[in-house]
Amino acid sequence: MATFQFSYDTFDHYSELSPEEAELVLQAMKAAEDLAYAPYSQFQVGAAVRLANGLIIKGSNQENASSPAGICAERSALSVVSAQYPSEKITAMAVAYYRNTHTAHGLEQVISPCGICRQSITEYIHRQDNTFPIYLCSPKGAVYRIQDAGNLLPLSFGAEIL
Ligand code: THU
Repeated sequence: MATFQFSYDTFDHYSELSPEEAELVLQAMKAAEDLAYAPYSQFQVGAAVRLANGLIIKGSNQENASSPAGICAERSALSVVSAQYPSEKITAMAVAYYRNTHTAHGLEQVISPCGICRQSITEYIHRQDNTFPIYLCSPKGAVYRIQDAGNLLPLSFGAEIL
């Protein structure tokens, strides 16, 4: 039988990360709180992408009254990178969310990218021929660090079959 498994690091708080990693997480949290447009779900998501040149690019979810026209924070960040820095490699990505209302999980739960965003992240890894770590964050500060973001989409559909 074939199997797929991967390990990831868990942190109770982003302050346990390196200063550079913690900065990326904080930028994703800030994007969620300050930049998201989520009047329909009230679920504000932020993403922060670090580029090889040191720049941090932010993205946030942008909803629409016609819901399929909305875009997730991860793909919003990847679009900015692709449109403005097409030859700059992504070296890390962080995703966070913000809610100003109470939730059953008490804001302890980390966010995990939706399926379409996983496909877009996988495309970027293929495109730049380099993977990168992804940090999945909770509003309270917990973080999962997945060293190879491509692990989020096993057995993916990709360019190699076309
Ligand atoms: N959302 C993201 O931006 N990223 C994710 O990883 C999951 C979901 C957004 C889409 C929608 O605007 C809101 O969160 C609720 O689904």
